[in-house]
Amino acid sequence: MNERLRARYQDLVARARAALVHAYAPYSDFRVGAAVIDDRGDIHVGVNVENVSYGLTICAERTAIFAAIAAGARRISAIAVTSAKERPISPCGACRQVMAELCDPAVEVVSEDPDGALVVWTVQELLPNAFASSALARGKA
Ligand code: THU
Repeated sequence: MNERLRARYQDLVARARAALVHAYAPYSDFRVGAAVIDDRGDIHVGVNVENVSYGLTICAERTAIFAAIAAGARRISAIAVTSAKERPISPCGACRQVMAELCDPAVEVVSEDPDGALVVWTVQELLPNAFASSALARGKA
């Protein structure tokens, strides 16, 4: 990875880390922060928001991605995710499916290891053979 990209990802992880303080995680006490870069170069942050009806909880990654879409973005070009308790933090399956919908397969998802070093996966690595809209088109009568 070139130094410019590394600096950009480090900045994105720092934005995710700064958002951690806003996480709403009274049930798990597992705070997660995320930050994404959209197709216009704007950054949006998200945190996990839990609910007493546990299944309604939304992860930080989806909160950040949906904030980008709500602000007018159509595609996501990079994602950072971090947690105080687990490093690196690996996105859950639901978030991977949402990433597959709104990111190109080569988009990179970055987290940090316990030493603060970047860990990078592509969306394709996180969810190979994703169910995609092309399947619906093929399935038309
Ligand atoms: N969580 C995230 O926000 N992102 C992940 O990648 C994994 C899990 C949240 C959901 C829940 O609020 C808490 O972490 C414990 O599962």
